[in-house]
Amino acid sequence: MQSGRPISFSRGDNGDAYIGGCLVNDLVKDYGSPLYILDQQTIIDNCRSYTVSLSQYYPHFRVMYAGKANLTMGLLDLLASEGIGVDVSSGGELYTALQSNMKSEDIIFHGNNKSIEELQLAIDHQVTIMLDNDQELDHIMQYSSKTQPTKVMVRLKPGIEANTHDYIKTGHSESKFGFNLSDMVSVVKTCHESDRIQFLGIHAHIGSQLFDPAPYMALVDCMVGHLVTLKQELGIDVHQLNLGGGVGIKYTEADHPLPISDFMTTLSQRLVQRLDEKGLSHPLLMLEPGRSIVGNAGVTVYTIGAIKSVSKEKTYVFVDGGMADNPRPLIYHSEHLFELVRGPVNGDHSDNGQFYAIAGKFCESGDVLAQNVLLDSPESGDLLMVYGTGAYNYSMASNYNRARRLAMILVNQGQSQILVQRESFEDLVRLDRRLERL
Ligand code: LLP
Repeated sequence: MQSGRPISFSRGDNGDAYIGGCLVNDLVKDYGSPLYILDQQTIIDNCRSYTVSLSQYYPHFRVMYAGKANLTMGLLDLLASEGIGVDVSSGGELYTALQSNMKSEDIIFHGNNKSIEELQLAIDHQVTIMLDNDQELDHIMQYSSKTQPTKVMVRLKPGIEANTHDYIKTGHSESKFGFNLSDMVSVVKTCHESDRIQFLGIHAHIGSQLFDPAPYMALVDCMVGHLVTLKQELGIDVHQLNLGGGVGIKYTEADHPLPISDFMTTLSQRLVQRLDEKGLSHPLLMLEPGRSIVGNAGVTVYTIGAIKSVSKEKTYVFVDGGMADNPRPLIYHSEHLFELVRGPVNGDHSDNGQFYAIAGKFCESGDVLAQNVLLDSPESGDLLMVYGTGAYNYSMASNYNRARRLAMILVNQGQSQILVQRESFEDLVRLDRRLERL
């Protein structure tokens, strides 16, 4: 898995790529191109890397998959079967989770500006709300009943700087998410005293795609400090502690993430040590991994179209997708590993390799997926794979240029099934209305 490819990835004798025991060429014949492929074995392996190490070092835990990474009903059914819950961050994600095998008590609801409609959906289904601000607190008190108090966790800004892209940092003090630490005691007091709220605990998330455990250690220390404060100032034993998500994955050879199990071992040992030092009981530890559950399980397969040489130094390989199915390179300058589906025969890496820019088909100059990819004599009609696209690709996809969003399939042990169907042209105009008046 540390290669960035799905764990079930292999190449046959003639070099052809297989994922989940399925020949990638056949998958594209059956489901079309471009195609998102998710490898079930990688997802399950990632889930177990969390659950096995936590069971050993901090058995009172719950893993709540961060649905924003990639959320469909089928995927949630799979995660529910592994005993994983889900963190949702919009009414749409909440609705999807409620339609899946996830039970209401296994869903938690995030968001810095939840609408009344969204709050009501959560309250009606007794989903735990991750409280973000004062206005939301008022709304929850207004719409909850004394007979069925709403379960609430308070989201805090821990004020920890994580070393990652600015757009995916969330724990710093100027972040738009959560309460400032100076407000913690009064907010928790209000929640605790309200007969319409059941206060469960506190939450913080420091950022995404993090490789260094040091900020997590700082987070553990700081959150245990808050548990002490709440005990001393309000006499409350906090039952749940949610430390968010953020464990990074390998996208390119330059990335060296710590294995999930090592991360969890370090984190849980530190937590036990700090709690014991302070004489606190062990709260339910929740984690919200997204990318590290599905990221490396995903591969996008494109078909190469035109190949255009624009200068001595630069040749574009155009693919039949791009920024609409993977906006990450454009937004975050993220990098991915690319490979042709037809691999080197008998592992023979010939010297025909040359560097190409891989560009999408969208009307935007920035629609370039990568600048320098080494490929061996690519030709129009070849299939090209992009690894590490299981997280924040399908979930961030758009219909730009009225692109039809791709199909996403799940593969395992030689079998494939559809998670999301490919959109059709009819789907694109389904919600359009012709003018009634000119
Ligand atoms: N919990 C909370 C409260 C979050 O805001 C996030 C991610 C997670 C958990 C999951 O983090 P993960 O384990 O996936 O790193 N679109 C960006 C990533 C945005 C992450 C937002 N929050 C990207 O493509 O890199």
